[in-house]
This record gives sequence, C-alpha cells and structure tokens, in this order.
Amino acid sequence: MSGKELLLMEKAYNEVNKYRDKVLDDPYRLNYHLMPPVGLLNDPNGLIQYKGHYHVFYQWNPFATAHGAKFWGHYSSKDMVNWQEEPIALAPSEWYERNGCYSGSAIELDGKLYLFYTGNVKKEDGTRETYQCMAVSSDGTHFEKQGPILMLPETYTAHFRDPKVWKRGDSWYMIIGAQTLDEKGTAVLFTSKDLFNWRELGSIAGSGMHGLGDFGYMWECPDLIHLEGKDILLISPQGLEPNGYLYNNLFQSGYFIGKLDYETLKFEHSSFTELDRGFDFYAPQTFTDELGRIILYAWMGITDETESYQPTIINNWVHALTIPRELKLRNDKIYQQPVEELKKLRKNKVEVNVDKLEENQTHFDGVMGLSTELLLESIKVNSGPFQISFRSEASLSVDMDKKEISLHRRNLKTDAFETRTCKVSSLSQIRVFMDHSSLEIFINEGEEVFTTRYFPSPEDETIIFQGDAKFRLTKWDLG
Ligand code: FRU
Repeated sequence: MSGKELLLMEKAYNEVNKYRDKVLDDPYRLNYHLMPPVGLLNDPNGLIQYKGHYHVFYQWNPFATAHGAKFWGHYSSKDMVNWQEEPIALAPSEWYERNGCYSGSAIELDGKLYLFYTGNVKKEDGTRETYQCMAVSSDGTHFEKQGPILMLPETYTAHFRDPKVWKRGDSWYMIIGAQTLDEKGTAVLFTSKDLFNWRELGSIAGSGMHGLGDFGYMWECPDLIHLEGKDILLISPQGLEPNGYLYNNLFQSGYFIGKLDYETLKFEHSSFTELDRGFDFYAPQTFTDELGRIILYAWMGITDETESYQPTIINNWVHALTIPRELKLRNDKIYQQPVEELKKLRKNKVEVNVDKLEENQTHFDGVMGLSTELLLESIKVNSGPFQISFRSEASLSVDMDKKEISLHRRNLKTDAFETRTCKVSSLSQIRVFMDHSSLEIFINEGEEVFTTRYFPSPEDETIIFQGDAKFRLTKWDLG
C-alpha cells in the first residue's frame, strides 16, 4: 500500500471518529440497513460470498455528504443480518483513480479475492479519463492494487465504467457501462483467460440496437445474470424521458431478458422492465452465493435534485443500501424477495384477521412502529381504493378497479406529495419492510417492489388502514 493511500485512509478514519456520535444519534439512522459510518454512500460494489462470509463494498465519500473522489467502504457478515465494519478497501490515491475508485465487482480465484473497479480521473480542462483497475486480497480485508488492466477503447467516450466480472466455462467475462461517440448508452463485453489481459468482444445491447429505440445517453452499472436458462442484462440507463407511469425518476434501473450468443454477440431481448417502482433505487448489483441464490443489493437513493435536501445531512451522513433480495424469474418477470435470513430480525409478532375495516381510519392494537415488518395476505379489496399510511409521511394506495398500486411520499425539495404507480393484474400479498427512514414494499411475493426513503417525525409510529378491504395481517418488530 502506498504512503498516499495510507494517509487518505487515516484522514477518512479521522472523519469517522470525529462524527461517530453525531451520526449514530440521528433518529433517521436505519436499524437493519447498511449505511456509511460518515459521509455519502452510493452504489453497492464487489458483492461476493468469499470463504463463507458475505462481503458488501460500497461507493463512499467519507469527507462530505456530496459526491466526490470515492473510496470503497466495506462490510462483512456471516448471515447478511449481522454486519461488521471492515477496514477501508480502496482509497483513491493513485494517478489512475485520482478522482475516485468508482463502481465495480468482485470474484474469487484460487482462494484470492479480486476487485475490479473504475479509476476515475478528471483533468483540469474538464475532460475525463477512465481506467478499469484491479486489486487483490488473500484475506478479504487488505487489498493490493494491481493498477489498470483495461484501457478505454477508441470507440467510446470516457463515460466507460462499472466493470462486472464473471466466469463462464473456462473464460472470464467483463461487462462495462458505456457511451458511444454519438452519445448513446450501451453495454460492452470483454473476455480474458487470466484476468489481466482483456479482449473486446463488442457491444451486446444499447440505445438503438436490437430494435431498441433511443434509450438514453449513458448506461451505468451493467450486470449480466443467468436465470432459468435466460440471460438477463441489468442496467441503469440515464436519459430516458418519463412515459406515463414509467421512468419518472431522474435515472432508471431495470432489465432486458434474452439469450446471449457469446460467439456472435447477438442478444435478442425483451423490452425494458424497471426493477423498482419507488423513488429511491439505483445502481443494483447481484452476486451468486454458495447456496446458488442470486442476491441483489441496490443503492436506496439516487443523484437527483432532492439529494442535497436529505435531512440526515446535518448529521454528516447520507444514503443507505436496500435490504438483500433474492431474484427469481417467473413468467418472464424478475421477482424480488427479501432473503430468508431477514426473518431472524423478527420479534413481537401480532396477528389480526381483518374482515372489514369498520371506521374511516383504522389502526390495530400493537400494529405500529419505526422498524417493522408487515405482511398482508389473502387480500380482497372491494370497491374503491384501499390505503395504508405509514407514520403520516408516506402511503400505499391500491385501486383494483384500475388495477393500480401507488406509493405517495413527500418530496424533500417541494414539500408536496408525489406519486409513483404500477399496474398489477391481481393482488394477493403486500409485505412491507419499514425502517426508521425507509420503506421497501413487496407486492405479490416480489412481482413489484416500491423502495423509498421518507422522513416522518421520529416519534410518529402510526400505521393506518383505510378502505373497503379484507386481509390477514401479521406484524413484527424488526430488531
Ligand atoms: C452510479 C455511478 C457509477 C459510478 C459511481 C460513482 O451511481 O455513477 O456509474 O461508478 O456511481 O460513484
């Protein structure tokens, strides 16, 4: 490790120590989500189960609650429930990463853990350079940088980043999010036999390819997964225009399902489906664990104009990751389910059988809380909307006449309520993970998910049900 890297890490630890108490005292600090110890967190990086332990790295600016020269922060866990803060994995100390060790992924080979990431360089004239870099560890904790292993090809702009690496047969593959010279988003595939030398295979999908129309000016954070015999490209495109209830956030994250021919690079794929219907979800990444599960984490945030209004900023931290979700493919749709392990958090179970909501606004004894799981099953919504309101600051409304489900929350900048909506053909289950300042709402066993941050009054624990509906309700506190 270079002296400069050690110095940067020391500065970051000083920042953590300086603000630790203030950060931990914030009433909006989450109970069971991964957050930065100080400063700003964004994308999940380097997800892997290595020597039995789960590792989550993340984009981190320890010095400000704004974007900047990113570090890789690091947590590890035996069960994805109890996490340990690990030493900083990467600090942006070298010439090829001066303005940030940007997003990337992890793989294991011969007992070693390899990280692939983007070295981001911003030059004085405002232009950028990008280097795909590698770092290696024998213990999963201390990393030795190997420097750039892949240079920018001439056919893309310097918006070329976020390498995701995996093995198929006896070859390694890397997919990178990129922008073509005429400013169209695309995902580019590379291959290698030894992880150090990479050969470009070409672009597998992008704006204007395979029947896809104009589809954004940049594609970030690509991930290619294999589920039920299908190849699925997860991508975070930038530059999509809102279209009805679709694409209403500044940037999107979603997927194309198809079959990739690794020889011809033909990737016939479906249309794009958004992974999440809420306000705060971006840059998802997956990994396959030792049980063969494909597990996704995403950034429970987004770089938009409300980011600087987050009320945690006065306490020197901002943003969190989602809970881990297992992915399944059903009827050509990705279903997301909280990993089984999260049931370990459950305590104080309360059950209610609701035949009819009597009053205009109903709350049930014991059904309240700040950090809570709600499960509604055997739901039958009669005429009119059915609504669940969370701590007076967000609500979910279901209108089965229109076959629509909507999430409402207060916009941090304008203070007005805003809405995101999705269509469902039926409704059988709603499962809600509430934390002190977040909601993750899984509809029909993860057919649709709404993820959002929200900032209720810290004392408000009310959960209110309204409308003409019948359901079985179970509630747990999450400890
Ligand atoms: C996505 C992203 C990535 C980049 C990283 C920088 O949120 O913009 O493309 O690598 O964040 O922090």
